[in-house]
Amino acid sequence: MSGSNTYPPAPEFSAKAHVGSLDAYLELCQQAAAHPEEFWAGQAEREIEWFEKWSHVFEWRPPFVKWFVEAKLNASHNCLDRHLGKRGSKAAIIFEGEPGDKRTLTYAELHSEVCRFANVLKGRGLKPGDRAIVYMPMVPEAVVAMLACARIGVTHSVVFGGFSAEALKARIQDLDAHAVITADAGWRRGKEVRLKDAVDEAVAECPSVSSVIVHKRTGSAVSMKEGRDHWWHELEEGVTAECPAERLDAEHPLFVLYTSGTTGKPKGILHTTGGYMTYVTSTMKWVFDLKEDDVFWCSADIGWVTGHSYIVYGPLSAGATCIMYEGAPDHPQWDRWWEIIARYKATIFYTSPTAIRALIKQGEAWPAKHDLSSLRLLGSVGEPINPAAWEWYYRVIGKERCPIVDTWWQTETGGILIAPMPGAVALKPGSGTLPMPGILAEVVDFDGKPVARGAEGFLIIKRPWPSMIRTIWGDPERFEQQYFSRIPGIYFTGDAARQDEDGYFWILGRVDDVMNVSGHRLSTMEVESALVRHPAVAEAAVVGKPHEITGQAVCCFVTLKQGDWNHHELAQELRKWVAHEIGAFARPDEIRFADALPKTRSGKIMRRLLREIVTTHSVEGDVTTLEDLGVVTKLASQHDEE
Ligand code: WTA
Repeated sequence: MSGSNTYPPAPEFSAKAHVGSLDAYLELCQQAAAHPEEFWAGQAEREIEWFEKWSHVFEWRPPFVKWFVEAKLNASHNCLDRHLGKRGSKAAIIFEGEPGDKRTLTYAELHSEVCRFANVLKGRGLKPGDRAIVYMPMVPEAVVAMLACARIGVTHSVVFGGFSAEALKARIQDLDAHAVITADAGWRRGKEVRLKDAVDEAVAECPSVSSVIVHKRTGSAVSMKEGRDHWWHELEEGVTAECPAERLDAEHPLFVLYTSGTTGKPKGILHTTGGYMTYVTSTMKWVFDLKEDDVFWCSADIGWVTGHSYIVYGPLSAGATCIMYEGAPDHPQWDRWWEIIARYKATIFYTSPTAIRALIKQGEAWPAKHDLSSLRLLGSVGEPINPAAWEWYYRVIGKERCPIVDTWWQTETGGILIAPMPGAVALKPGSGTLPMPGILAEVVDFDGKPVARGAEGFLIIKRPWPSMIRTIWGDPERFEQQYFSRIPGIYFTGDAARQDEDGYFWILGRVDDVMNVSGHRLSTMEVESALVRHPAVAEAAVVGKPHEITGQAVCCFVTLKQGDWNHHELAQELRKWVAHEIGAFARPDEIRFADALPKTRSGKIMRRLLREIVTTHSVEGDVTTLEDLGVVTKLASQHDEE
């Protein structure tokens, strides 16, 4: 690992960077570590416009933290109003739909759209503290919906458009949401993703929802329920674009974003306003080295935290021009992304290793067709980037001119915690390098003691930072138990890592039962619960197995109830079933039928063994606690059903 190539920052890059030398970076870290209150107060003052300042910077009563106590601000004001003077006519969003429709919204235009829609929401009776679900395609209206909620203090929860009606329903119910903001459908690979149909199915069992607001995107027929469902454009008729931003407390809940935990029930990660905005805006400069004339493109979906922090809140708060693309990278052909970069002269491009690997497979001819010379910085997020993919990204896309920022973070962390500051820190392919100032990351053993350099351990963050998770919606016990109980009072990331001799962090993956499929977090339990809801299934155990493109793929071991089953057909059906219950991205790669599952004497399924079976096709680990060794041997020797 330490023998890999090192890429020091180019002097031309450092000369113009916000943080232009290792010394400058270390100085920031030193200040933040020695005087956290002063340091973060400084960042908050520099990066954010406040209606009222804090009484103190933070209050830490583990596991609960408050940042910028008693201060008042508004996230939408920071993303829009404060830019109107200097950046009113600057492009905020450059949008391209999958069919090729194009639209640019300046900061002034986005501001009026947001104000009008905020008035619409008020007209539907929404008020500070209420919750709204945003279930939208990747169109500017999704951003408008989020910022309109933020403007009037409504807590939004964006549900990724790839989630099924079932998954949507569970989220609406957990949140007791008052409204659902959606679209008739969106475009994906030339087909419609029929969002409104899914909303109808979900909302039928959600009595809390009194309004469904529908943006017309594709124009195809949808059913509208009288009294509950309204067209966005009709509600906007005659509505003014005057809507003062609500003065909200720094700890006002900005959004809840559901992510997979280790149980079947997704966790609603709560982020609040002041600390989150301070941190995501700071990292736009530290990590993306954002300048006034940059054209920033993060290819994530707004349904994931990356989209929240680095399509919406971070870039807009920092006054950036952002590209937003609705569809798939291979539509109509595999050069769609490169075409977009060339068309809009993107300068910063941020994507995932899984996308890079898929693009590598299509060959270098696709990017070669386009002028990518506008690019100056590349980013990666979602899983460890394998050095081969890193080198390809660096050479073929960045033409050996653009640093790559490999950014480690989580839904819970709100913003990037470990990543190189590109003008200051030398890169090593596959390593997220060093933590941001104020992020006291450490690799420890089971007892919370630091391990030696080079040794593996658990990644923890020792001190609270402004954008950290505040709680799990409706479940503070689970919050404490998940993140602050392994080492009392210290944030436990759930990732394994090691530090090399330069202190660089190398992330080794999850230590819990969470899979990472195409950079999407998915819990093994969630898939298992979906499987056992099928009438044929008695028991299920799910593990991630290594996959060339998606990082991990979902592999299911299933035992069946009595009956005469056609395994081939049932495997197909169960795949479809899981896609229906959770979403297409969760569709299992493999279904294996077994007579029994390997269990410990206390009846726990031994996923470790199953993981070994799918990874190495044999079992070498300790099997002494197994109830029935025959079960494992049989599973290991069995060929896939398909
Ligand atoms: C993994 C996405 C290695 C990690 C922002 C983490 C990474 C989980 C990286 C969070 C990276 C994310 N290198 N691993 N650069 N980025 N991960 O909540 O296991 O969807 O715990 O947040 O993804 O996934 P989440």
